[in-house]
Amino acid sequence: MPSTVELRGVSFAPVLSELSLRVGAGEAVAFIGRSGAGKTTALRLINGLLKPTGGDVLIDNVSLADSDLIALRRRSGYIIQGSGLFPHRTVYENVATIPRLLGWPAARTRDAAAILLKKLGMPLERFGDLYPARLSGGEQQRAGIARALVAEPALLLCDEPFSALDPIVRRELQDAFRELREERGATIVFVTHDLAEALRVCERVVAFDAGRIVADLPSRDVTKSNVPIVRQLVESAVLP
Ligand SMILES: Nc1ncnc2c1ncn2[C@@H]1O[C@H](COP(=O)(O)OP(=O)(O)OP(=O)(O)O)[C@@H](O)[C@H]1O
Ligand SMILES: [Mg+2]
Repeated sequence: MPSTVELRGVSFAPVLSELSLRVGAGEAVAFIGRSGAGKTTALRLINGLLKPTGGDVLIDNVSLADSDLIALRRRSGYIIQGSGLFPHRTVYENVATIPRLLGWPAARTRDAAAILLKKLGMPLERFGDLYPARLSGGEQQRAGIARALVAEPALLLCDEPFSALDPIVRRELQDAFRELREERGATIVFVTHDLAEALRVCERVVAFDAGRIVADLPSRDVTKSNVPIVRQLVESAVLP
């Protein structure tokens, strides 16, 4: 069952001020905004890596202050800016991290990893035994995506997951992501600078400016927005 996410007047002084937002089960929301606007910080608050200085973050209607964060992370996938792979583990060991914590039988882990890595263009036979230092930046990023997705998370938090990819692979992964989402039905919060990407992957867009939410609208309405930062992003984007 996909998770819900709710921010109730969440602040993280001095970076974020009074964010309020509800993301429904199975919804995909993009966080957009300029560099330094507070997108990564907001994602880290949702993941419980940072604690708010005011307000409350709720996952599945339970405050993170009252939640078992370790159990929560096993149900979530987190794709961080850069790949965040464990350097001393092979690709396969990285991808198997959460299945192992969940106690999956080895065969189930291997099958799930093989299917996903193939879909991401990194067949297990060829890449499974390599260490991250041997991979290109884009390959590392794809292995990080596989690690986040393999256990079918109820909540997927993605921080510029495709930034190190060439435009062709990037486009393929955006489509693969949409497909995976339709098949598996996770709730997604997706941070990106790229408005075209936000519109392709998500049905809703939340714009950040200087630590505040300044717009929250359906993707299809983005080009009609009068909010200055959204207009700037629309004007600088190459939209279909
Ligand atoms: N733990 C922290 N304590 C205080 N300030 C922080 C902390 N983490 C980040 N900041 C500051 O908060 C601001 C927002 O940072 P954040 O990483 O959330 O931006 P962002 O929107 O993700 O930017 P980018 O698009 O460049 O990744 C920055 O000015 C950063 O220096
Ligand atoms: Mg960031």
